Amino acid sequence: MKEFLTEIGGKEVRTIVGKGILGEALSSLKGKTLLVYPTSLKDKVKGVNNEFLRYEIQDGEQAKDLERAMEIVDFMFSQGFDRGDNVVAIGGGTISDVVGFISSIYMRGLNLVIAPTTLLGMVDAAIGGKNGVNFKNVKNVLGTFYQPSLIVADTDFLSTLPQQEITRGMAEVIKYSIVLDKEFYDFLAMNQEEILKERNHGVIEEVITRSIRDKLNVVSQDERETKGIRIVLNFGHTIGHAIEAGSSFSVHHGLAISVGMTCEAKISEEMGYSEEGIVEDVTWILSSYGLPISSEKLETKIDIEKAVASLSKDKKVRSNYVMMPLPTRLGEWRRVDMPLETLNGFTRQCLS
Ligand SMILES: NC(=O)c1ccc[n+]([C@@H]2O[C@H](COP(=O)([O-])OP(=O)(O)OC[C@H]3O[C@@H](n4cnc5c(N)ncnc54)[C@H](O)[C@@H]3O)[C@@H](O)[C@H]2O)c1
Repeated sequence: MKEFLTEIGGKEVRTIVGKGILGEALSSLKGKTLLVYPTSLKDKVKGVNNEFLRYEIQDGEQAKDLERAMEIVDFMFSQGFDRGDNVVAIGGGTISDVVGFISSIYMRGLNLVIAPTTLLGMVDAAIGGKNGVNFKNVKNVLGTFYQPSLIVADTDFLSTLPQQEITRGMAEVIKYSIVLDKEFYDFLAMNQEEILKERNHGVIEEVITRSIRDKLNVVSQDERETKGIRIVLNFGHTIGHAIEAGSSFSVHHGLAISVGMTCEAKISEEMGYSEEGIVEDVTWILSSYGLPISSEKLETKIDIEKAVASLSKDKKVRSNYVMMPLPTRLGEWRRVDMPLETLNGFTRQCLS
């Protein structure tokens, strides 16, 4: 088991990573506690802290809806929840997003605990305090920054996660290693079998702990994305989001950012921002985890014009420049204000 504290915006966030730790980790909560989890995890949550109230929902993107969120609020209100009480999100990124949102607005904020159950949730979605719900079918329109007091990554949950969810979650893990943590890159370069095939407990625990530490270290320096530091977490995401748009959102996020990281590393090397060899490092590690490094490897055909057109709507565009984090060498990065025209050209070339 691994445990550490991070201070973010004056709040202490405790992280615990380990096997079979959820019940014990929650047992110290004081006040009323509501567990929110998806129906698919009903059996797994059965034995956990039977004294707690429970709220079961269907997960997936349809759960991240304002109306669904208000139904949970309604339940909490009927049970008399107040600011001293706790809400625990047990599930993937959709559950942590919706429960994070509710906990931040209910009586201006009650104690939030997140227990992610997917690899993506453990290494990314549950980490960093961003939450969001969709509104009128537009993703994450409503959301806040709100840190949990406790993150419990219980690796027992991963035993039922389909293989492809592990592979796809690894894209975000690899991202941290490329732009933030060379030592982690070297670790990942030696442990593909242990992670994907054997699902070695100790190795997976290390992967999750290191990813959470790397992400929280960035978030603690720039919680609200105002200092130009948190943007590093966007590596691979500018072109990744364009790929998602060009596939009408049928390509999985992890696969899209895998191709996105490849394209963005190529831009960095071709424009002279990085040392030679970064493209080889990026493509080698992604391929070794079975992740795609070109649009041909994606199951869906990408509409390149649609993908390129979406770049101008990127949240990081400022007067025809796009703020992008690019790797300079393994474990290091810099911010580049990329002319939109240049980015359009590179994207078209990389996806053709
Ligand atoms: N707030 C953030 O910073 C942030 C970051 C990245 C992603 N996200 C959000 O996260 C969401 C995606 O998260 P996700 O990939 O975890 O998806 P998800 O929550 O939809 O879960 C994926 C599927 O896995 C199932 N599942 C969950 N745990 C399981 C387990 N232990 N065993 C078997 N099946 C299990 C779920 O029932 C679901 O069908 C998106 O909505 C995305 O916007 C948020």
